[in-house]
Amino acid sequence: QWGLNTDWLGHNLHHYAEVASTQEVVHQLAKQGKPHGTVVIADQQVQGKGRMSRNWDSPKGKGIWMSILLRPELLPYQAPQLTLLTATVLAEVIADQSSITPYIKWPNDLLVHHKKVSGILTEMQAEQDQIQYVVLGIGINVNQDTADIPEGLQHKATSLRIESQQEWSIQQTIQRILRQFERTYDQFIQNGFSEVKPKWEEYGYKIGEKVTISTMKKSWQATLVGIEPDGALLARDEMGNVEKLYSAEIHWGEG
Ligand code: BTN
Repeated sequence: QWGLNTDWLGHNLHHYAEVASTQEVVHQLAKQGKPHGTVVIADQQVQGKGRMSRNWDSPKGKGIWMSILLRPELLPYQAPQLTLLTATVLAEVIADQSSITPYIKWPNDLLVHHKKVSGILTEMQAEQDQIQYVVLGIGINVNQDTADIPEGLQHKATSLRIESQQEWSIQQTIQRILRQFERTYDQFIQNGFSEVKPKWEEYGYKIGEKVTISTMKKSWQATLVGIEPDGALLARDEMGNVEKLYSAEIHWGEG
């Protein structure tokens, strides 16, 4: 039914009309021992999860709500690289299919004209410094009209359809994403993040951009310097100190 053109990804595929969250479904499947590359897709999520315990609006048939089970042979510190890899894959697939140029907002958002079209949620289960499994959640606003986007979010959320003025096939887009993800993932496992970094830089932050960075502890103004070979973000504060970040919230400009 899904006509996947992959070697291993999605060969175990579960499709639901409605779930609370595809993340939760994959966590359960992982605990039942389902294999690396298991994919769960839903037409609708009634409790879609975003980062930082936010909600993720997932209306029926309007987007891609999908989670992938990975059992990667990586160390826990490398798991965030999977988020960057995924963002790169999504940006490439979207750019290939339209005139849209997506922008990766480190680490896990995809923006078009400064509004969010897609978010990635990477959840890892680790024990004794070993990854048991990773649940990689992909949410893409695909066919929402402006009216489908809650009014309070319209200044910061958009969809592929709104930005490209074309209707997108959800199924075809999923096929392309899974194919491209599998390729990129295999290269990454073989050769490391250096495979992903140049593509990431094509769609990611441009060096010299002025941003505000917030972590759990503090918030400060900085200038972006680049990303490290391991996917960490480098940012220079106003005193000239360069800090290496593995997770933070980034906002443009000051304030
Ligand atoms: C974010 O930007 O905060 C991440 C959003 C991730 C949303 C996706 S939709 C599929 C998967 N299931 C969920 O409940 N969340 C992720």
